[in-house]
Parts: sequence; structure tokens; C-alpha cells
Amino acid sequence: MPMGLYRDFLTHTGRVVHKWTHYFPVYERYLAPWVNRSVTLIEIGCGEGGSLQLWKRYLGPYARIVGIDFNPACKAFEEDQISVHIGDQGDTGFLSRVIEEVGAPDIVIDDGSHIMHHMRASFDYLYPRLSKSGVYIIEDTHAAYWEEYGGGYRAPQSIVEYAKALVDRLNADHARGVVTPDDFTRSTHSVAFYESMIVFERGWFNAKHAPKIGRAP
Ligand SMILES: C[S@@+](CC[C@H](N)C(=O)[O-])C[C@H]1O[C@@H](n2cnc3c(N)ncnc32)[C@H](O)[C@@H]1O
Repeated sequence: MPMGLYRDFLTHTGRVVHKWTHYFPVYERYLAPWVNRSVTLIEIGCGEGGSLQLWKRYLGPYARIVGIDFNPACKAFEEDQISVHIGDQGDTGFLSRVIEEVGAPDIVIDDGSHIMHHMRASFDYLYPRLSKSGVYIIEDTHAAYWEEYGGGYRAPQSIVEYAKALVDRLNADHARGVVTPDDFTRSTHSVAFYESMIVFERGWFNAKHAPKIGRAP
């Protein structure tokens, strides 16, 4: 697969974008299917505005890019295909007003405060509101190990620990009653851990079955 997004990043001449380079193969893996589609991407945390422009350039002319940031100065990053909503990512009332306006997002990238309870509040509110095959990317999850971000090694409030527990909910249909299947079980295809990133893919299942196919020897 050509590294189009990474090339776009390296040749970017717009507003400043600030990303770890090793995130790009991960972004590309999940974002490539949405290129040139009518896609809505929400990025929490606009920084200096460059990442909003990068997503726009990569995803193409039908993409709608929605920035969320609590810094009112970020409103200046609005341009064709890019809107910015000012508010706190931990405030679900604010998030609900954004969703009311932009509809179900296909992609959410959380690059906001990286504070545990903020990441958790945004995820719990926005994940169920993704479109049916949507993708949710939490980046800079190394903050989960840092107390000043509300984290800590194996700390119960850590987003990494929360995501580990979501793996049990993903597999709940096979957990022999120990974990109760819920909406997350029914609407999630994958939870993937990368260095400093966690990615969730939504999707629905028809009946789960495991037929044996082929001729016995
Ligand atoms: C790391 S920067 C984003 C960088 C940008 N996405 C990029 O790739 O260049 C984090 C941003 O999150 C915003 N932020 C911090 N706490 C927030 C909160 N509670 N709600 C919304 N935005 C927040 C900051 O104002 C800052 O613009």
C-alpha cells in the first residue's frame, strides 16, 4: 500500500501539524478505505490546525473534517471542508450538540487533552454514535502510564486498562456467562493496541457460526 498519508505529512506546507511518525502506518491502515468517500472525521484536539488540513488533503473532496477543541482560537482553522467546534471533550452535553449538528461520525481521532477521564468520557459518548463501520482512534495512550494525566501502571482509571476490559466485552459471547454481551459486543469488530495508540473498529455481526467446510480425507 503506498504511504500516501505519510507522504502528505512530510510534504505538508499548511498550518503546523504535530504527530509521531510511527502513527502514520496505523492511520493509513484504518483511513485508506475512506479516501474519496463521503466521510465525516472528528478530530479532538486541533493544536495548530495542521492535522485538520492533513486529513482533508488525504481523504479528498467529499470529506468533512470536524475539529473539537476548548481553545476558542482554533475557530480560525475553519476553511472549506473544515469546521471547528469549541468546547471541552469531557463535556457530553457539548459533544451531543456537535453530533446533533454533524451527524454520526465515521472516524474519531482523540488527540485532545490525553487526560484519562476526558478520553473515557469522549469515548463512552462518541463510540456508540459512530456510523456502523466507523473507526475510533485514541492516540498518545502512553499518557495512561503517567499520574499527572490521571493514569498509572495498571491504574483502574487508565484508558489502557479500560480498553483491556473492553476486549472481554468484545469476546463476551464466549465467556460462559462471566461477561454479559452488550451493545459493545454486538457492534465491535476489533480492538487493536499499537504503541501509544488504541483503535476500535465498529461493525455488526449476522449470526455467529463456525461451519466446517471441505471434504474429510
Ligand atoms: C496535542 S494538541 C493537538 C495536536 C494536533 N491534533 C496535531 O496533530 O497537530 C492537543 C489539543 O487539545 C486541546 N485540548 C486540551 N484539552 C482539551 C479538552 N479538555 N477539550 C478539548 N480540547 C482540549 C488543546 O487546546 C490542544 O489544541
